Amino acid sequence: MRVHQHPILGALKDEVWVNIEVDGTTICAREGEPIAAAIMANGRLKLRHTRKRQEPRGVFCGIGRCTDCVMTVDGQSNVRTCVTAVKAGMKIQTQGMTGDGEAEEWKK
Ligand code: FES
Repeated sequence: MRVHQHPILGALKDEVWVNIEVDGTTICAREGEPIAAAIMANGRLKLRHTRKRQEPRGVFCGIGRCTDCVMTVDGQSNVRTCVTAVKAGMKIQTQGMTGDGEAEEWKK
């Protein structure tokens, strides 16, 4: 499930593996790949929940247009993870839910 040739981020050059943190869980990702792809490759498809109805959302367009993949990245909210490249040590959080619910979502 890795994206090797992304239409916006380009081709992955070197195979450099790094750790990133998603909702408090450390996962392994390839540096330069889309954050959303790294999360999906680690078995999670839900990237956020809608504000009003708490409905799950994941990658829809994959090209930065729909905002279904937005997450908080290193403290900045509404980052489109389908077009944002992984960097070592990133801390990523789900938007739309609070508290322990996030940790429980990761386990599903
Ligand atoms: S999936 Fe549409 S903006 Fe990321």
